[in-house]
Amino acid sequence: MVTAVAYRLASQRKQIDEILASFQLSMENLIEVKNKMREELEYGLKKETHPIATVKMLPTYVCGTPDGTEKGKFLALDLGGTNFRVLLVKIRSGRRKSVRMYNKIFAIPLEIMQGTGEELFDHIVQCIADFLEYMGIKGARLPLGFTFSFPCKQGTLVGWTKGFKATDCEGEDVVDMLREAIKRRNEFDLDIVAVVNDTVGTMMTCGYEDPNCEIGLIAGTGSNVCYMEEMKNIEILEQIEGKMCINTEWGGFGDNGCIDSIRTKYDKEVDEGSLNPGKQRYEKMTSGMYLGEIVRQILIDLTKHGLLFRGQISEPLRTRGIFETKFLSQIESDRLALLQVRRILQQLVLDSTCDDSIIVKEVCGAVSKRAAQLCGAGLAAIVEKKRENRGLEHLKITVGVDGTLYKLHPHFSRILRETVKELAPHCDVTFMLSEDGSGKGAALITAVAKRLHNIDKYLYAMRLSDETLLDIMARFRREMQNGLSRDFNPTATVKMLPTFVRSIPDGSEKGDFIALDLGGSYFRILRVKVSHEKKQTVQMETEIYNTPEDIMHGSGTRLFDHVAECLGDFMEKQQIKDKKLPVGFTFSFPCRQTKLDEGVLITWTKRFKASGVEGADVVKLLNRAIKKRGDYDADIMAVVNDTVGTMMTCGFDDQRCEVGLIIGTGTNACYMEEMRHIDLVEGDEGRMCINTEWGAFGDDGSLEDIRTEFDREIDRGSLNPGKQLFEKMVSGLYMGELVRLILVKMAKEGLLFEGRITPELLTKGKFETKHVSAIEKSKEGLNKAKEILTRLGVEPSHEDCIAVHHVCTIVSFRSANLVASTLGAILNQLRDNKGVTRLRTTVGVDGSLYKMHPQYARRLQKTTRRLVPDSEVRFLLSESGSGKGAAMVTAVAYRLAEQHRLIDETLAEFKLTHEQLLQIKKRMRTEIEAGLRKKTHENAKVKMLPTFVRSTPDGTGSFIIIDARAAW
Ligand code: BG6
Ligand code: BG6
Ligand code: GLC
Ligand code: GLC
Repeated sequence: MVTAVAYRLASQRKQIDEILASFQLSMENLIEVKNKMREELEYGLKKETHPIATVKMLPTYVCGTPDGTEKGKFLALDLGGTNFRVLLVKIRSGRRKSVRMYNKIFAIPLEIMQGTGEELFDHIVQCIADFLEYMGIKGARLPLGFTFSFPCKQGTLVGWTKGFKATDCEGEDVVDMLREAIKRRNEFDLDIVAVVNDTVGTMMTCGYEDPNCEIGLIAGTGSNVCYMEEMKNIEILEQIEGKMCINTEWGGFGDNGCIDSIRTKYDKEVDEGSLNPGKQRYEKMTSGMYLGEIVRQILIDLTKHGLLFRGQISEPLRTRGIFETKFLSQIESDRLALLQVRRILQQLVLDSTCDDSIIVKEVCGAVSKRAAQLCGAGLAAIVEKKRENRGLEHLKITVGVDGTLYKLHPHFSRILRETVKELAPHCDVTFMLSEDGSGKGAALITAVAKRLHNIDKYLYAMRLSDETLLDIMARFRREMQNGLSRDFNPTATVKMLPTFVRSIPDGSEKGDFIALDLGGSYFRILRVKVSHEKKQTVQMETEIYNTPEDIMHGSGTRLFDHVAECLGDFMEKQQIKDKKLPVGFTFSFPCRQTKLDEGVLITWTKRFKASGVEGADVVKLLNRAIKKRGDYDADIMAVVNDTVGTMMTCGFDDQRCEVGLIIGTGTNACYMEEMRHIDLVEGDEGRMCINTEWGAFGDDGSLEDIRTEFDREIDRGSLNPGKQLFEKMVSGLYMGELVRLILVKMAKEGLLFEGRITPELLTKGKFETKHVSAIEKSKEGLNKAKEILTRLGVEPSHEDCIAVHHVCTIVSFRSANLVASTLGAILNQLRDNKGVTRLRTTVGVDGSLYKMHPQYARRLQKTTRRLVPDSEVRFLLSESGSGKGAAMVTAVAYRLAEQHRLIDETLAEFKLTHEQLLQIKKRMRTEIEAGLRKKTHENAKVKMLPTFVRSTPDGTGSFIIIDARAAW
């Protein structure tokens, strides 16, 4: 009998142990979870797999942690955790930095959580109204930050999780839903500035105290993590600068079945009975909303098998959700005597014995331990990733944590910590409890976002949608057509100048040339030797010469004297003063040409304004200046625009190159056009390079709708008001100044530098385009901003630096977008010319802005691809400037000139003088006479044979024909 009882008890214990064992995770299990989590994190970040990833890795657009300069008065909503809160948050910055909060908890009845979207948002607005009333601030239109603890993609709810299931919300914009509800109520207005996940709010709350906090963890009703990720790893954003907070939504980990091997039948039952079956599998094993439910399922099972409660399942135990996680926390408390456990069970009408209480406690322990370990394994994957991101042997990092499970459960936080330590031994992780909830963090984010919102209001007009860009592309295509047509060219703003360059280098060029390169940032003189031994090679020597402003703005004679003087110096240095080398002249201004070695300047652009040059042929002016000196001679064979030089330089390496693009001091492009489309030049065969002079696009008012007050101010202050309006929105000569004007205006409005404006900031040209490039550098950008602004006399806060960075980004982005649209028009023209559906081509590019700005090239290429999707464009950077290309053009011109000379020499032998002709006439006459005379007829050279035809037709039928066949 005793043996039978002992046997029964042992077998019961075995069954219980088996169930508990299914919740035990070995070290291998945990390492596998960590590795799988790591894989899923990468999946979510990769562009290709992001849309189908189970760990969603949602960008939050929060790019930094708080720096203590945030300030203001904000409203915050905190929805999605155990409590729904409305808060008023007052933040003070500076030395007396502080945050004061007032909050009120409101209930959200189940029927509202699972009713319609309208009902839910109306309820939220009702609670806000009550709060405003309660605080006596109903009239104030405060900025609002919304902690919305559900997965959102760019403000749109991806799907409900946890206990919410309101209809018509998924796929909708959260801010819109809230705004509409406010409108429906029509009682007050709010400025909804930011929507943040609770993990992000938590990270920010903790980050306010500890700048090392770069991870936010929630172990509460739900389970989730966010962390600061390197921008370059977030493939879907295609940006490389800085960091951004990623809301991992790791609750969905395992939804693809990758952790099914450790899920128990109880996990599956809990999942099936939930609001979102098949989803959030990891969350359902780790978070407060589900742990009690797992325990309930086990208890039912044990009872069914007669292992608990004498086999009696009470009615309450059958009720879903009855076994709350708070019971689990209480039961597991070490301080709780078994008697008290029994009391808790009694609340569920469970009549437990002492043994029952022990078993229930064991079950709770197994379930919560597994939850903490799983959570630890996931977190280990994140901290390891952060360590690798930074390339560190050892990482010290703080994790901001919130959530009732973490806060209230007696063992959860300890086990979590131990697991992380074990699985990520090279990371020293500090866990920081968020005392103030995520509302504080949301308010901090709102403070930064509010500032950027205000800036955006200013710069709204500078953000051009793809629709606008496509429209600009179409406008520019029309301008191109006008420029090419004989009828419209005289009045066209985009001049479309024929260049008389007919092809790109073909590899046969050779010789020793001089190239002048005037009009970009530097005046360069080069010697270019193209040799042709086994293969074509180019050797170049360059000197840079200064062109002082007074020369650029003085008389044309002085300018060309200066050019001739520099050339003389160069030839002296090269010891070629005695030679007459062919010269190619890159002259980067609009010139009308009727041949290669003539260029009539239409108008000065950019920095130049020398008198007496507009309307004159620059080749003549230079020749005159050289002659005047008389110490050397030069043969200027070609004048080319820098775009053409660039196309030719790049064409040397890539035969497909048929566009030349400059984004430097100025901006312009050239391309190979079909002769049949060029009305201004005779002939229909082949192609000719057209210098578009697109800088003048908009000079007829066609871009007025996108020009801003800052663009107009730039134009007014320029050397050529009303001209080159497109160039002034795009190119390096103006970009820094554009930013400066915006900064001054923002400072005047109190949006920057606490309203302080310094004389340096007010000085034209003090903020240069190279500063824009430095500030937009990914790593040191913000430090650079601080350095540059400090030099301008302002003492910028970190926030100021972020704002200035933002302004730079918007201005430079606009520039790249605008160039993408005009370039897009050229690409479309090329595609149509070739009659292909997909264009494959190469664009040769040069210019300091394109080269020096860290993001420009990538942005331009990306937008171009978007605007002209049916093309495959290679952007080839011109490494050696346009001088090499100019030398190529000169080589062709030189070869043609040489050929002409040779032909002339050869033909010269065939040329007869008048004298010679008279002599021939005389000799012929003598020979004819000799042929006719009897005496000499026999030996005559001109035979003079009678034909016996006696006359020309006279109607009688008889005639004489003399055959004067010459024997010579
Ligand atoms: C609160 C935060 O402290 O914790 C909320 O303010 C968050 O934003 C919540 O959602 C998470 O914990 P729980 O247990 O309430 O879901
Ligand atoms: C240089 C070319 O590399 O780039 C010049 O050699 C051209 O011909 C210049 O004008 C354009 O860039 P930037 O920035 O100097 O105006
Ligand atoms: C759920 C939500 C997530 C939230 C978490 C914690 O997993 O999907 O957005 O952060 O719960 O509240
Ligand atoms: C200006 C000039 C143009 C040149 C461009 C780039 O727009 O007018 O000829 O190509 O600057 O330097």
